Amino acid sequence: MCTLQRSFLALCLIASAMASPTGSNLALQAVSQGNNLFAHNFVKTISKDQTGNLICSPLSANIALSMAAVGAAGTTEAQFKDVLKLPNDKAQTLSGYQNLIEILNNVENVTLKLANKLFVAEKFPVKPEYKQNLVSHYHSDIDSVDFSQSANAANTINTWCKEKTNNRIDSIVQAADLDPGTALVLANAVYFKGKWANEFDPKDTTDRPFHIDSTKSKSVPTMYRKGNYKFVELPEYEVKCIELPYANKDISMVIILPNKIDGLSALTDKLEEVTTQCSVRLTQTYEREVKVYLPKFKTETKLDLGNTLSEKMGLTQPFTNSADFSGISDIPLKIDKVVQKAFIEVNEEGSEAAAVTAPYLMLKMMPRRFTFRINKPFYFTIKYRSLSIINGRVSYIKSKRKLKRKSSFLPYILYFY
Ligand SMILES: *[C@@H]1O[C@H](CO)[C@@H](O)[C@H](O)[C@H]1NC(C)=O
Repeated sequence: MCTLQRSFLALCLIASAMASPTGSNLALQAVSQGNNLFAHNFVKTISKDQTGNLICSPLSANIALSMAAVGAAGTTEAQFKDVLKLPNDKAQTLSGYQNLIEILNNVENVTLKLANKLFVAEKFPVKPEYKQNLVSHYHSDIDSVDFSQSANAANTINTWCKEKTNNRIDSIVQAADLDPGTALVLANAVYFKGKWANEFDPKDTTDRPFHIDSTKSKSVPTMYRKGNYKFVELPEYEVKCIELPYANKDISMVIILPNKIDGLSALTDKLEEVTTQCSVRLTQTYEREVKVYLPKFKTETKLDLGNTLSEKMGLTQPFTNSADFSGISDIPLKIDKVVQKAFIEVNEEGSEAAAVTAPYLMLKMMPRRFTFRINKPFYFTIKYRSLSIINGRVSYIKSKRKLKRKSSFLPYILYFY
């Protein structure tokens, strides 16, 4: 009887994307839709589990888990399909993810890089068909690692993540996470760096109050720009939403700001409804001139997703001794850990290729002056077209350290592992 082997999912970083589906691309459409459904559940569950600031990438989690799903069978496979919202047909799953990954790796005007890798124990027999699926559909490399040398093995994996995230995440796994029983590590890394379509002028950044709760406020560096943006009010949910485009107009950050200082938890309860309504209403509106106040922020989250996935989302079997990964190997395997680390930094920088799109005629008809002041806890999503890549929440802003604006900082950087 073979011993049970352990596997580990390390999600390096993720970014997002999807193309508009064409008739010939049902697989991509199915995978993208599944991703969004998964993202809603994932973000809602994580938001309730965590307190404080949060940054996560449901897309990264989804891709890494789908790599495991492709090697699953029986009830294990059924649970993956159910939780990840995968297409019923495996060929469709493989081709949909392949398309998605190819699209994500070819988005112009921003840096979006998505990488997948399988680290496998030196003598662990992985089925050739599984390897082939990862190589051809997930554009994944396969590396063998000696997990009995746990420090070296951790170093190998961390070096990979570091490389794939432009040195922003330098330690994903620790030697203690790995032991000779580890058979494989599935890693997904996403790196995203984008400039605003219209940058904020650093000269306009000043300290302004950010209300942490009804009694406390903090003075934080807040960017300012008057420009044309799409924004809507949803009085029925007591929120306002604004869309801030990146240099690639298909990628934007949508900020959902509750009207009330303590409105974030009510928003979290109805997250799916509110985010859906925001997207719909934003597509129906046009750009108007608005004064935007947005605090600079930087946040990092490390999530140990194993419990969330098994206890809150119904993905139980892959973590137990009855896990069935017979598509990967004939030796019994189970998932030991799923971790994700994400990082985001938002500041002024933006592309100077200011593709100004201003329906001025419309504006002139609207004498009212609009102001969108993000000065209390808010929720945000970075999306590529309709696909959500990164989600997060800012409930406090840590430092009011003066901006090192001309230093090495990159405008928006996200990492996950
Ligand atoms: C990329 O940048 C160029 C130059 O500013 C612009 O014309 C083009 O529309 C941008 N592409 C997208 C998809 O936004």
